[in-house]
Amino acid sequence: MRIFSGIQPTGQLHIGNYLGATKQWVELQKNQECIFSIVDLHSLTIPYDPINFQKKIMETAIAHLAIGIEPEKSLLFVQSQVKEHTELTWLLNTICPVGELQRMTQYKEKSRQFKKNINAGLLNYPILMAADILLYQTDIVPIGKDQKQHLELTKMLAKKFNQKFGETFKIPKTQIPKIGAKIMALNNPKKKMSKSIPQSCLFLFDEPKTIRKKIMSAVTDTGKTIKYDLKRKPGISNLLTIYSLFSEKPVKELEKKFKGKGYAEFKKQLAELLIVKLEPFQRKRKELVAREVYIKEILNQGAKKAQTIARTTLQQVKQKMGLL
Ligand code: AMP
Ligand code: TRP
Repeated sequence: MRIFSGIQPTGQLHIGNYLGATKQWVELQKNQECIFSIVDLHSLTIPYDPINFQKKIMETAIAHLAIGIEPEKSLLFVQSQVKEHTELTWLLNTICPVGELQRMTQYKEKSRQFKKNINAGLLNYPILMAADILLYQTDIVPIGKDQKQHLELTKMLAKKFNQKFGETFKIPKTQIPKIGAKIMALNNPKKKMSKSIPQSCLFLFDEPKTIRKKIMSAVTDTGKTIKYDLKRKPGISNLLTIYSLFSEKPVKELEKKFKGKGYAEFKKQLAELLIVKLEPFQRKRKELVAREVYIKEILNQGAKKAQTIARTTLQQVKQKMGLL
């Protein structure tokens, strides 16, 4: 099976990215052919700083290597270094109905969030994402829940293209984790944890001091009991999910463990658990930060190999569309 997924280099990795997506990547690379892309072109659609963008891209690469993506097993590359992505995006543009793009939840949310910068790239974002996936004749796309709608659009475009021009693209399957597909914001358990809202996040490389502070001040619900109840206790439920995934213990067991104990005790133990679990990632990251040449080499090799696959698909697409 071929796996493809992407992540934006817009900020640091948070535990939502990890539990919703990248933790699965690390597992999948053991037995599947994995291709992971740092999707820098997607990030240009919201306000960003060109001065430190290169640094962010490098940091994203380092973060993925630190959590266990192994260059011997997976292809890791930067989207803008494989020009076929933009080329296929244009071609798919011509078969994508504008109405489909306008009804995308992420487009609506980002348009609201960045009112002064509703650019065409923000609208066409899902087409670039479809190009990413379809170029590699992908079988499975592991993602968090927020990207499900974009995957539906990708499948629709692939089917439409195949119908119109003849069998070309493989129709990808979406893989969303059963638990952890939507980690909620620490400062508002009704919203998702999101890189574009730093106060909402616990970052993978936060210092122990910061972890304690963020977890202890995470917004929780009225009441006292540690019980999973999404409707009435979204805050505690979110923290229980995080606890459960990092400790590999079912929520039921945790409810028993914390029976009769208050929120403060629960949060204290969660913070200590996170400190222990995140420490190996932080250590690996420190080692990698000093090895820029090595990281760049991994990315260059990744781009080269990715391009070989992408080029073949693009050639077929152009031929089918009647281009020279
Ligand atoms: P992004 O940070 O938007 O580039 O997302 C990278 C990956 O992390 C995607 O597969 C998202 O679906 C996933 N993801 C982002 N935020 C969350 C969250 N709060 N909970 C679970 N998964 C998430
Ligand atoms: N849009 C995705 C996100 O923000 C990132 C992404 C870009 C992606 N291209 C992709 C994810 C292809 C999976 C497959 O999370």
